[in-house]
Amino acid sequence: MSPRARTVVLISGRGSNMSALVEAARSPDFAAEIVLVLSDEPGAPGLAIAREAGVAAEAIDFRAYPGKAAFEAALEARLRAERAEIVCLAGFMRVLSPSFVERWKGRILNIHPSLLPNLRGLNTHERALRQGVAEHGCTVHFVTAELDAGPIIAQARVPVLPGDDAEALAARVLREEHRIYPAALNAVARSLTSANVREARLNPR
Ligand code: GAR
Repeated sequence: MSPRARTVVLISGRGSNMSALVEAARSPDFAAEIVLVLSDEPGAPGLAIAREAGVAAEAIDFRAYPGKAAFEAALEARLRAERAEIVCLAGFMRVLSPSFVERWKGRILNIHPSLLPNLRGLNTHERALRQGVAEHGCTVHFVTAELDAGPIIAQARVPVLPGDDAEALAARVLREEHRIYPAALNAVARSLTSANVREARLNPR
């Protein structure tokens, strides 16, 4: 494990959570460094935003591969070449296969726009409004084979206000996403790097 955990961020679109991670990682005290941004969509606006922020960014175009297994093999090869230690899904809209997720167990994180276990899946803001809940929010969790069901690392709550539509609610939640995702990554990276230092002390080469 490197002194700062080498982290690759996977996106599919806008990339605002990716930007929050990149900004946080500028601090020398932050336990992770963002070494690469990858998108399954070549047209993702987040790619240009990452490059403007000085971070390498590439597309691995899902459509260029005969299927999911070939796409994931290319993704895995790119992660290995980059010596990635942590993978952060940040608005990455593909479900990864159980075997991929298993290889990255404990080192692959996702941000989801709901208070899990409530509202797994898509269109969470519309569904929260339909449920008539008083509180909504976001969750950072470890990714496991079951969609949006892995161990929770951090959550933030926001109120649902009278007159909210999905857009207003999404914006309130997104502000919290940008706060808790960097904090969660920092905590996971710190625990991985310090576990590694402990192991090196116990088993000196
Ligand atoms: C975020 O709200 C994120 O929580 C959500 O997509 C948005 C991406 O925005 N992710 C999911 O719904 C995953 N199932 P961003 O590209 O600006 O970070």
